[in-house]
Amino acid sequence: MSNLLGSFVHIQAVKRAVISAANWVDLQWSVTISQLRKVAPRARGTLLDVGCGCKPYMSIFAPYVARYVGLELESTFSGTAAASLSVQPDVYYDGKRIPFDEESFDTVLSIQVLEHTPTPQELLNEMSRVLRRDGVLILSAPFSFRLHEEPHDYFRYSPHGLRVMCEKAGLQVQEVWPQGSLWSVLGHQMNSFLAFQVGKLDGFTQSLGKLTHEETSNSSPRFLALPFVVPAMVLISGAARVLDKVFPDRTMALGYLIIANRPSKF
Ligand SMILES: C[S@@+](CC[C@H](N)C(=O)[O-])C[C@H]1O[C@@H](n2cnc3c(N)ncnc32)[C@H](O)[C@@H]1O
Repeated sequence: MSNLLGSFVHIQAVKRAVISAANWVDLQWSVTISQLRKVAPRARGTLLDVGCGCKPYMSIFAPYVARYVGLELESTFSGTAAASLSVQPDVYYDGKRIPFDEESFDTVLSIQVLEHTPTPQELLNEMSRVLRRDGVLILSAPFSFRLHEEPHDYFRYSPHGLRVMCEKAGLQVQEVWPQGSLWSVLGHQMNSFLAFQVGKLDGFTQSLGKLTHEETSNSSPRFLALPFVVPAMVLISGAARVLDKVFPDRTMALGYLIIANRPSKF
């Protein structure tokens, strides 16, 4: 029995190590998590996570908020791998009117969702409506990212476009943070190609709890390719991080994270 427990702990430890390594290689995930850790202390009160998926950021925000509510669009969420996981959204809606009264939340979070609605300005207006005066919106959206969650992948966003959209929704943008630079974009694209087209790692990645916003994949890895694919991905990710620091190019980014406030009335 203790041997069995020992090997279980061992397997869990190996799984955790593999997940950490995969998270490090995934440049989009790494930059998102590091930015959310920085911004999380600005969250407070009740938080609404719009397009929460399987709530992957809840543990980052939980120390700062009193309540964390996850909202999802049922029609798209039900087609994702996240729909079969244990952590589920708290509220579903039809994508039109967020089912809460005006000024219900102190914080609204929305990570990589705005590209998935054909009516992004309406969704942003809704986020602003349910945000209290002086409340904070933390939102990220992609600028350069592969097609995903097809066919529900409609737009990409520049920082200027996001600013104008926020202003139209009655929000004041405080800060815009680029996510990576040219090298992260190139690295992420090359790594996506290696992982999904060459290594066929979709199913394996999902078994680690990643890529949950895509349809469930049962594909088996292309084992013969892995001795080439895995070291190449690690090398590309490391090089992209270094090059982003040494030769940053502010005209290119994976996406942008914005922090906006809903101004008080007076
Ligand atoms: C790329 S996933 C991101 C999930 C999660 N925020 C994350 O970062 O892992 C996009 C999510 O947005 C949801 N979604 C799409 N349109 C939406 C809408 N109008 N309102 C709320 N959620 C929406 C989808 O169902 C999907 O779960």
